[in-house]
Amino acid sequence: MAYRWKNDLTPADVTPKAAFLNRRQMIAGTAGLGAIAVAGKVSAQDALEPNTLEEITTYNNFYEFGTGKTDPAQNASAMVIDPWKVTVDGLVDKPGEYSLADLAEGLTTEERIYRFRCVEAWSMVVPWQGFELADLLTKVGVQSGAKYVAFETVVQPENMPGVRRGVIDFPYLEGLRLDEAMHPLTIMATGLYGEPLPKSTGAPIRLVVPWKYGFKSIKSVVKISLVAEEPKTTWNDINASEYGFYSNVNPTVDHPRWSQSSERRIGGGLFSSRQDTLMFNGYDEVASLYDGMDLSKDF
Ligand code: MTE
Repeated sequence: MAYRWKNDLTPADVTPKAAFLNRRQMIAGTAGLGAIAVAGKVSAQDALEPNTLEEITTYNNFYEFGTGKTDPAQNASAMVIDPWKVTVDGLVDKPGEYSLADLAEGLTTEERIYRFRCVEAWSMVVPWQGFELADLLTKVGVQSGAKYVAFETVVQPENMPGVRRGVIDFPYLEGLRLDEAMHPLTIMATGLYGEPLPKSTGAPIRLVVPWKYGFKSIKSVVKISLVAEEPKTTWNDINASEYGFYSNVNPTVDHPRWSQSSERRIGGGLFSSRQDTLMFNGYDEVASLYDGMDLSKDF
């Protein structure tokens, strides 16, 4: 753990804040998509102050490496991420096995500071770098029959103690409806704090969907498939009555075993506390995606 002074602020807390303020000024000047990254209802306690790199990389869920929060940081260094290929297949014009460079070629990589809310009722603020999934999907050409996007995580039993123990079924699977995947808030993250994504957080490339519970944000992606039917997804498959396919952050729909009305912000320095959970994690601009849907049934 980093040393903490009496007032609980470290240089790491201060540096990202200054950087964040600069970025916010930049974003304010650009309008359009940049503004989306900082939009949303922000409670008084939540000024989108990023968590420290150490907090973000040492308190994780990545069951391939074990079920404990510190297991990924301890075990993920064994994961081989170079070379890395992402298979793009299904209802797509340009299927193939893409290297990371080929995948990102021609796409704009930018910083997105997002709230991240786990279904277990803890949260962080994370300064990701990545590109919009919509840009990638447009580049590879989505065919008319495609209604969903399915994702798959790498499986390396020799390097993954959680896989060897079979703590859940692997590969870890996730999915989005096509319009969710095409929303400008949805990114494929490749970096954190300006550096390549650390292994415990899903190197070298992961999905980030900031208005959904964190388990939707699948790590270390090796396959992206455009499909016609709702795909099988890991936690929904384990227990559909506790983990819905949609799983939008919603403070009014409790998990069957705990309340979702508030969350524990990890770290947070001076602001460390419980805080109210916001509908769609504060990203209200996605609400129209769910017009006509009964959100009280969405865990
Ligand atoms: N992706 C894979 N492959 N395996 C996992 O166990 N855990 C999910 C999600 N993506 C998980 C995963 C859960 S439950 C959460 S809360 C987030 O990753 C955690 O992301 P973080 O550790 O970067 O905060």
